[in-house]
Amino acid sequence: MEIFLDTANIEHIRQAAKLGIVSGVTTNPSLVSKEGKADYEAVVKEICSIIPGPISAEVVVEGAQAMTEQARKIASWAPNIVIKIPATAEGLEVISALAKEKIKVNFTLCFSLNQALLAARAGAAYVSPFVGRLDDVGHDGMALVKDIVDVFRNYQLPTKVIAASIRHPQHCVAAAKAGAHIATVPYEVLMQMIKHPLTNVGVARFLSDWQRLSKK
Ligand code: G3P
Repeated sequence: MEIFLDTANIEHIRQAAKLGIVSGVTTNPSLVSKEGKADYEAVVKEICSIIPGPISAEVVVEGAQAMTEQARKIASWAPNIVIKIPATAEGLEVISALAKEKIKVNFTLCFSLNQALLAARAGAAYVSPFVGRLDDVGHDGMALVKDIVDVFRNYQLPTKVIAASIRHPQHCVAAAKAGAHIATVPYEVLMQMIKHPLTNVGVARFLSDWQRLSKK
C-alpha cells in the first residue's frame, strides 16, 4: 500500500518528504483554507515541486462545464496534478471529458460502491472512499474500501482505491488489510504510525547499557 499525505501544510509535507515514504499528496478546499493562504495556485505548485508523485487538487466551482474548465486550468499548473472531482452525476460527466484528454481524476467524497464503480467506468484514475466520515455516521467505512477493491479486482478495472478520511493508525492497518492501493493520511497519523513505546524503551535501554560498558 502506498502512503499519500492528506494535507496542504507545506512544512509538514517537507518534513514527511525527508522520510522517503510519501509517494503523493491529497488536498481539499478545507485543508487549503486551514493553512490560510489565498493563493491556491501557488500552494499547489509548491506541493508539486516537493513531492514528485500524484498531487490531488480539488475543483472549487459547481456545474459540469465550470468544473471541466477549472480542472483543465489546474491540470496545467504542474505535470503531476490529479484533479479531485466530487462523486456526483455532473462529476461523472467531467471525468469522462477529462479522461479523453488524459487528465487524471480522483473521484472524491465517495460513500458507496455504486459511486466508485461508475467512476471507474468513466475513466477515473483514483476513487477516494471517505472512511472516517462513514464511521462518523455509524457505517463501516473500511468495509466499503474492501468492497471497492474486490469489485475492481473482479472486473480488472485499473482505477486505484485511495482510503481517505483516515483518522488514526488503525485505519491504516485496516486499509492495508482491505487491499487499498493507497492510504492518504494526515501528518499526525503518519507520525503515529512509526511510533511505538516499546521501541523508545528499547532504544533507551540499549544506550544506557552501552554507556555503562564505556564507563568500565
Ligand atoms: O482525504 C479526505 C480527507 O481530507 C477528509 O478527511 O477527516 O475531513 O473526513 P476528514
